[in-house]
Amino acid sequence: MEKIVILDFGSQYTQIIARKIRELNVYAEIYPFSIDVDTIKAISPKGIILSGGPSSVYSENAPIPKFDVFSLGVPVLGICYGLQLIAYQLGGEVNKAAKREYGRANLIIDKADSIFEGVSKNSQVWMSHGDSLTKIPDGFEIIAHTENAPIAAIRNQEKKIYGVQFHPEVHHSLDGVKILENFVRQICLCREVLDMHSFVDSVIKKIQDEVGASEVICALSGGVDSTVLAVLLSKAIGNKLHCIHIDTGLMRFQESAKLMKLFKDYFNISIDLVDASDVFLSRLKGVTDPEQKRKIIGNTFIELFEIEAKKFNNAKWLAQGTLYPDVIESVSVKGPSAVIKSHHNVGGLPEKMGLKLIEPFRDLFKDEVRAVGRQLGVPEWFVRRHPFPGPGLAIRIIGEISQERIEILQKADDIYIQEITEAGLYDKIWQAFAVLLPVQSVGVMGDERTYENVCALRAVTSVDGMTADWFQFPYDVLAKISNRIINEIQGINRVVYDITSKPPGTIEWE
Ligand code: XMP
Repeated sequence: MEKIVILDFGSQYTQIIARKIRELNVYAEIYPFSIDVDTIKAISPKGIILSGGPSSVYSENAPIPKFDVFSLGVPVLGICYGLQLIAYQLGGEVNKAAKREYGRANLIIDKADSIFEGVSKNSQVWMSHGDSLTKIPDGFEIIAHTENAPIAAIRNQEKKIYGVQFHPEVHHSLDGVKILENFVRQICLCREVLDMHSFVDSVIKKIQDEVGASEVICALSGGVDSTVLAVLLSKAIGNKLHCIHIDTGLMRFQESAKLMKLFKDYFNISIDLVDASDVFLSRLKGVTDPEQKRKIIGNTFIELFEIEAKKFNNAKWLAQGTLYPDVIESVSVKGPSAVIKSHHNVGGLPEKMGLKLIEPFRDLFKDEVRAVGRQLGVPEWFVRRHPFPGPGLAIRIIGEISQERIEILQKADDIYIQEITEAGLYDKIWQAFAVLLPVQSVGVMGDERTYENVCALRAVTSVDGMTADWFQFPYDVLAKISNRIINEIQGINRVVYDITSKPPGTIEWE
């Protein structure tokens, strides 16, 4: 398969470069800048993109590749830090003291080049850099500038090395995708067109070869990833797959029942349902601290899953819906980040149980998993579902959790989602949910005083959940949601809307 390799120098946008190229139906993979030359040669990429990064090429710990990227005879595109690296390594100059530049700029093309084919005049590009180029290396020429950056793009036509100071991968670079497309199709000469159909066929074959006659266990949470995973595995290995769904009692309204029905009626896949609501509820009794809730739920889940999984004593594999961003996270240049929330997963289990891991989505982004789902016939309403956290409603009931509070929240959340869907807004929102607060307020209903709970509504737009903005609802939709929740649910007499972005807030409240 034709591949573009992206060397990561620590930019917050590295993943976006890969995503944009994949959207062009060309396969792109991210590797740390420290990868060795033999690995690169074995991959035999059609082109290499050097990402941006926060460092200065002159700083002591600047990330520098271990080998000469420019002598591989493969086209190279350097972006921001990548451009500066080209200059630094090939004899140009980078000015440390230059004015920092962030935000929009207009690109003025000085020399026609296939990399700019179809790019409009004065096209808006996005700049985000401290250092900038003051001298280009021999053999290069300047092909574009902006008002503040005399050197915004360079090329060495003979060696097919390009560098741009701006970030073509970000949304605000209006012709950025075109530039990336020109690089991969016209300069790297990538000819193949990725399609999900052949991806699915090759993954199924790979699973069959790998697993052979042994059995596989899959934890089905009901989310998009684990559902698509289960359907894929079932296509590959039929009844050698054992799906276990643990109902924590913290799922959305009738969610476990709907999931069982979907799998039975639609896919004809049998699932072991474990109703563990009582265990989770009793272990969460009296607990109000968010991290403690997360830990109790995570540990209980693993404990119960292990007991269930042991029943399949011929199983040798545990299937997991690990996605590419998780894989990159573990090899990226980023330093250790503070633990904001302990995430819920079954990490650690495979070693403990002597199971081998099978992760067919390790190379895919979330949208690609959705495309695989569609290819496998998973219904559209399911494939488009908003993400749902492992600890479920426990982290949306602030304070102590009780069966009564779970039921109140399930109903409120259900009405909320119904109304968003009805208004045609569901797909415009990354994630929407209701939160039950440990606060009561006074109200008046039918001349009677009420003293009931407050429900907060959250809806955000986002690309990957890393940053998010609150969704700007039409007022009439909010009015209808509030009206229905208060009228139809006993126990809520006030509804508020959360207008916090991330950062500084997080998406979930706990
Ligand atoms: P936060 O609240 O950290 O959430 O802004 C970012 C995204 O992650 C989801 N989330 C989780 N997903 N296990 C998961 O699988 C978890 O423990 C977990 N906690 C948060 C959250 O719903 C949002 O989409």
